[in-house]
Amino acid sequence: MIKVIALVGSLRKESYNLALAKYIEQAHKDKLDVEIVDLNLPLFNEDIEATPSPEVTTFMKKIATADAFLFVTPEYNHSVSGVLKNAIDWASRGKSLHKKPALIMGASPGATGAARAQTHLRQILDTTVTYVLPANEVFVSAAHTKISEGILHDEGTKKFIDSTVSEFVAWYQRIN
Ligand code: FNR
Repeated sequence: MIKVIALVGSLRKESYNLALAKYIEQAHKDKLDVEIVDLNLPLFNEDIEATPSPEVTTFMKKIATADAFLFVTPEYNHSVSGVLKNAIDWASRGKSLHKKPALIMGASPGATGAARAQTHLRQILDTTVTYVLPANEVFVSAAHTKISEGILHDEGTKKFIDSTVSEFVAWYQRIN
């Protein structure tokens, strides 16, 4: 069983990106133990780093339990959301992201499925020395037609995510 900590960059209740993480959590229970962590954290500030809030302490403890990470990002103004970047900034102050495998994906109602945000995310995760599954890209476009009430119901998208998760698990086993 691979312990996967999922960072979802949207705080919205019916977030399309949260729906992807929840789908993986449910559909791949046999091989992945997915825990979606709360990213409603204070803005990173070096002045408060030594005395972090309970939310930050809990977040840092949870990410330390990860064998691997799942990042699911919305696209805000052609990049990752501030919520996700802030969480990565906090996380980067510990060692948890360092040399850990990660799978990234994203959803948007637009035509590009958060592609530009994911390109930025790969760059960001380079600085934290997080190993992102190469090549595989999951751009869930027109998300409003595939997800409703926080649930992914598009069969084609499910199949594509399933094959990417299988690829990720095989790669995880190869590199570990
Ligand atoms: C967006 N959205 C958006 N979508 C996109 O494809 N490219 C973009 O650059 C942006 N920019 C953007 C900026 C801001 C401030 C907001 C609020 C939204 C639309 C965005 O993809 C949409 O709101 C998604 O539903 C957000 O993801 P969740 O909350 O559904 O996970």
